[in-house]
Amino acid sequence: MLSEKNILVTGSSSGIGRQIAIDIGLNKGNPILTGRNIEKLEEICKLIIQEGAHPVYHQADLRNENEITDLVMSLPNLSGLVINAGIIDYTPVKFISKAKIDDIFLVNFTSNVILIKKLLEYKKINNNSSIVFIGSISSKLGVPGTSLYAASKAALTSFAKVLAIEVSAKKIRVNVLSPGLVTTDLTGNIRDKKSDGSEKDKNYPLGWGTTHNVANAVIFLLSDKSEWMTGTDIVIDGGFTLS
Ligand SMILES: NC(=O)c1ccc[n+]([C@@H]2O[C@H](COP(=O)([O-])OP(=O)(O)OC[C@H]3O[C@@H](n4cnc5c(N)ncnc54)[C@H](OP(=O)(O)O)[C@@H]3O)[C@@H](O)[C@H]2O)c1
Repeated sequence: MLSEKNILVTGSSSGIGRQIAIDIGLNKGNPILTGRNIEKLEEICKLIIQEGAHPVYHQADLRNENEITDLVMSLPNLSGLVINAGIIDYTPVKFISKAKIDDIFLVNFTSNVILIKKLLEYKKINNNSSIVFIGSISSKLGVPGTSLYAASKAALTSFAKVLAIEVSAKKIRVNVLSPGLVTTDLTGNIRDKKSDGSEKDKNYPLGWGTTHNVANAVIFLLSDKSEWMTGTDIVIDGGFTLS
């Protein structure tokens, strides 16, 4: 499905990004992993190599513009890009500080804009490529404590729509996938706060998501099977927003 496509996945050292990188390899693509944790990146690359694919990794802290530049310069031309790295935050509005706003937006929004700007500037994205942003249903809801996280994902989603128009002449597609709760390191502590997880679960008609659920949709968006889709924001949440 992704034969010989070089695809960069940010935040691929764990959770959703890890699964996306593995599934790119399983679909005959060449995943390029990036994150800060080099041990995890190495371990995942070994796993992907065992499946017969050809991954590479580049360690980078996306908060640092020089490290973004080094990452971009190290890359081959890409046929796909998954903007997945992100951090969550639960700060009620009255406790927000300027430093907190800067932290969340730097990782979830600013670094991604800089990365894409540089990839375009250095002509690293091939014509007919696919760019997938991992947004969140938080950007469409009003969950207490998530204002900064939700706003950062909403900003990313708006950015993606304008980008979709700007790169359309090159037939580069840009789509956002907005998941509901998926069990990963990022959300582990939410589940731990519930004695049995039941309150959260009853709001999810199909249960909480898995990293596989999200990765399957990403593989479709990266593949030529979605060649007429751009500028969309697809909710994938096991029916949560129905209730
Ligand atoms: N899990 C959910 O329920 C859920 C729901 C909706 C949306 N999402 C979104 O899905 C994405 C992945 O979430 P996840 O649950 O898989 O989280 P996760 O397991 O915590 O993974 C986050 C990834 O982001 C990377 N990252 C964080 N800060 C970074 C930085 N400064 N520089 C480079 N990489 C950085 C981490 O790598 P290192 O630690 O190696 O740097 C890690 O690989 C996020 O954008 C999140 O907002 C998640």
